[in-house]
Amino acid sequence: MKETVLNKFAQLYGNSEGAKVYFAPGRVNLIGEHTDYNGGHVFPCALTIGTYAAVRKRGDRKLNFYSMNFESMGVIESSLDDLTPSKEADWTNYPKGVMWAFAGRGMVMDCGLDIVLNGNIPNGSGLSSSASLEVLTGYLLKELYGFDVTNVELAQIGQYSENNFNGMNCGIMDQFASAMGKKDHAIFLDTADLSYEYAPLKLSGAKIVVTNSNVKHSLVNSEYNVRRSECETALSELQTVTDIKGLGDLTEEEFEANKSVIKDEVRVKRAKHAVYENRRAVRAVEALKNNDLKLFGELMNASHVSLRDDYQVSCEEIDVLVEEAWKIDGVIGSRITGGGFGGCTVSIVKDEAVDTFQEKVGTAYRERTGKTADFYVVEIGDGPREL
Ligand code: GLA
Repeated sequence: MKETVLNKFAQLYGNSEGAKVYFAPGRVNLIGEHTDYNGGHVFPCALTIGTYAAVRKRGDRKLNFYSMNFESMGVIESSLDDLTPSKEADWTNYPKGVMWAFAGRGMVMDCGLDIVLNGNIPNGSGLSSSASLEVLTGYLLKELYGFDVTNVELAQIGQYSENNFNGMNCGIMDQFASAMGKKDHAIFLDTADLSYEYAPLKLSGAKIVVTNSNVKHSLVNSEYNVRRSECETALSELQTVTDIKGLGDLTEEEFEANKSVIKDEVRVKRAKHAVYENRRAVRAVEALKNNDLKLFGELMNASHVSLRDDYQVSCEEIDVLVEEAWKIDGVIGSRITGGGFGGCTVSIVKDEAVDTFQEKVGTAYRERTGKTADFYVVEIGDGPREL
């Protein structure tokens, strides 16, 4: 991949002398979904797939962006004097948003750059191609311009730019997982205070299989922001009777005892998901520590049911993938992962069942939906770095 982006760089910008190559990973979330903007826990891990950039500073204020994933768009030109979001800027709104957010924190680029990007995360699959692009941009700015930022700050800047430049009110999970990834570990993050712990993923005899429904989600246009504001309203209703900062502060019992103050049935379901899912994430990590993979899988399955029925962020195709996975011997757990409305499922599958899993789920999916699923047996990798 390093050569591929450098060759393209030379082809587009004359030569690749002095160009540097950087990488930032995508992520998969094992459990704790739609809890990160509710002050709850998440348990994602960084993948070995992600986004690559070949990049070099320029002598002027121009910004030249090129993505090998969107070749037909050609080089998209911009400038440091135009760090505002626009429709025409298309995917470059992500790196531009990060540059804008850096500038807002006093880290101002003194010259432009030429850049070539290439990612091997399928777009719109819910594996955080956009967060990896944000973290990658932040990381390369830090390295090239000598800005003093930590990786946690890179995650915060990425989220801030996505919220305020790109209009997607995401939580911090995706950027945090990409910026703080650690090989063979998942990250148990408390989004209430950003305290975290690395948990070794000892899945003795099992693998993580990500299944792509190939139904593209588009979170900005989807219901994501609606869910977030439903949770905020439910929280303010609960705050009239409890002293909590986020839905993640409640136990199931406390929620049940107080839920009658939420004046709308749909909001009760949304808040219930956020509370119960947070508790499931905490229990799942305990289960993993106790080597109780069976319980971990059961919690994953319960997470799916809650996301499907209470949070209502699944879709028919994803439900088919999960139902078919549940039927197979050797599947420890399976659920939707990421923002929802399409994208991927994540399953923990015993080594000996991985082939059967792909064959059976793939066939049933084709028969029941007329669509084709893709399977990735994923590995857990490190955070951003220079190659
Ligand atoms: C998207 C958002 C994350 C998180 C998940 C759902 O991936 O970017 O912040 O809310 O959805 O868990």
